[in-house]
Amino acid sequence: MATDALVLDGLDSFYGDSHVLHDVSFSVGAGRVLGLLGRNGAGKSTCIGSIIGFVRSRARDMRLFGEPIAGLSPEALSYKGIGLVPQGRRIFPTLTVRENLTVAARTSAQGQGDGRPGWTLRHVYEAFPRLKEREKQFAGSLSGGEQQMLAICRALMTNPRLLLLDEPSEGLAPQIIQEVARVLVDLKRSGLAIVLVEQNTALATDIADDVVILNSGRVAHSGPVSTIRSNEQLLEKLLGIY
Ligand SMILES: Nc1ncnc2c1ncn2[C@@H]1O[C@H](COP(=O)(O)OP(=O)(O)O)[C@@H](O)[C@H]1O
Ligand SMILES: [Mg+2]
Repeated sequence: MATDALVLDGLDSFYGDSHVLHDVSFSVGAGRVLGLLGRNGAGKSTCIGSIIGFVRSRARDMRLFGEPIAGLSPEALSYKGIGLVPQGRRIFPTLTVRENLTVAARTSAQGQGDGRPGWTLRHVYEAFPRLKEREKQFAGSLSGGEQQMLAICRALMTNPRLLLLDEPSEGLAPQIIQEVARVLVDLKRSGLAIVLVEQNTALATDIADDVVILNSGRVAHSGPVSTIRSNEQLLEKLLGIY
């Protein structure tokens, strides 16, 4: 059996005295997409922040492709191959599109020896011609959708083995969300393992193989995506939708 891309076992996370995540465990299979769902405030971003070492946490075990990663710095985790598309995009508005991409450029420690494309500026521009057209513009002048594409491409430029996306559809028009979805499906097809945090359950269930639903900092449900499709009671109880 292939080694999981990510294993989280018994994660507890804290902001000062505030204990926000309680015994959160899940794993992301190699090449699989995990949808991480939950209401506003459920702990999704805290979970992402804990994986990348931004939030104080402890875990029984945390592994990236079999290698223990608990306690590593965000820089070390990026180097080991975790790419992040943060909530709110956080592109550098006063740098150009090209500068946003090139500051991130790096080949992760493992390189791309597994047949996936190595992302370079040229490759990104081929895959996203709109970013090429806008390469000399300040990133802050892009539309919301273009900024989201830039944020995704900036993460790809680090050549991640595991990509974490925190609410990539937030604040985007439905048509643009469909574009983002197509990009994510392409990345999934390329074999990249992905954690997709979403409030947009329809988007997440379209793309994800597996889902974890957080509720008040605890795992309330986890399983293959089929376990939540058409499960109106569960969705209403945990996500407030039906
Ligand atoms: N920097 C912070 N300091 C203190 N509490 C925080 C901080 N960030 C988030 N929280 C709290 O942690 C809980 C989980 O938040 P968060 O992980 O942002 O949820 P989600 O991403 O699911 O909306 C919430 O109760 C929130 O108020
Ligand atoms: Mg969040």
